[in-house]
Amino acid sequence: MKGVITAGGLGTRLLPMTRVTNKHLLPVYDRPMIFYPIETLAQAGIEEIMIITGGKHAGDFLPLLGDGKDFGLKRLHYAYQAREGGIAEALALTRDFVAGDSVAVMLGDNIIEKNIVSFVEKFREQQKGARIILKEVDHPESYGVPRFDAKNRIAEIIEKPKNPPSRYAVIGVYMYDSRVFDIIDKLEVSARGELEITDVNNAYLREGTMTYDILDGWWADCGETRFSLHEAACLIEKTGANNV
Ligand code: DAU
Repeated sequence: MKGVITAGGLGTRLLPMTRVTNKHLLPVYDRPMIFYPIETLAQAGIEEIMIITGGKHAGDFLPLLGDGKDFGLKRLHYAYQAREGGIAEALALTRDFVAGDSVAVMLGDNIIEKNIVSFVEKFREQQKGARIILKEVDHPESYGVPRFDAKNRIAEIIEKPKNPPSRYAVIGVYMYDSRVFDIIDKLEVSARGELEITDVNNAYLREGTMTYDILDGWWADCGETRFSLHEAACLIEKTGANNV
């Protein structure tokens, strides 16, 4: 299985800190933000990761991360996204890198207290389709939110719904089989001008090949605002992150 981390975007909500560097290189407690998702994927046994970034500070990643050997990786690869066209557009850039394999995607601003080792193992056994991870949250309207049917299966995922159909958020860790690239090819650009990862997930749901797990421990989407960045640092100070 290959790993992909999305670390593009302009980080305008975190100005002026992002004026001279990429959002994912900002410190979160004792490490740059991007270290956390790399560690999450590496500890789940993923040995090759591609980081997708963009903007005028894209070059800052190389001197910090190099070839990925410090994380125990076989190799770290890089791709450049020319504009903020969405998470699914970023993922599409990794088609040749994934090359028919399956892929675990993690958003570069997501940090978790524990780990995804058992979820990745279950997906390896599943072989076909997709797997996502849910977490109960206080404000689901900021995220992709699942609607469940009577049998507790996910019927659909709604991106940032005004009236959330459940209290769960779809966290930024997604596992897909190699057909994900054909699914992205058929997507239409959303109202906010992006290729949406939620539309990819809904395609797998319609096909009936999507499974899910519930995350144990805290989850932080730390790139949203200065508050979420600060809160993530406090959580890490208290418990650490990526605990096995
Ligand atoms: O954090 C979980 C949420 O992430 C999910 O619940 C939502 O369903 C999903 O759409 C996503 O929502 P966000 O609004 O938080 O996504 P954001 O635009 O912040 O992008 C997430 C990461 O992906 C961030 O680290 C920047 C990167 N990114 C984003 C875009 C739009 C790219 O690399 N390229 C892009 O074009």
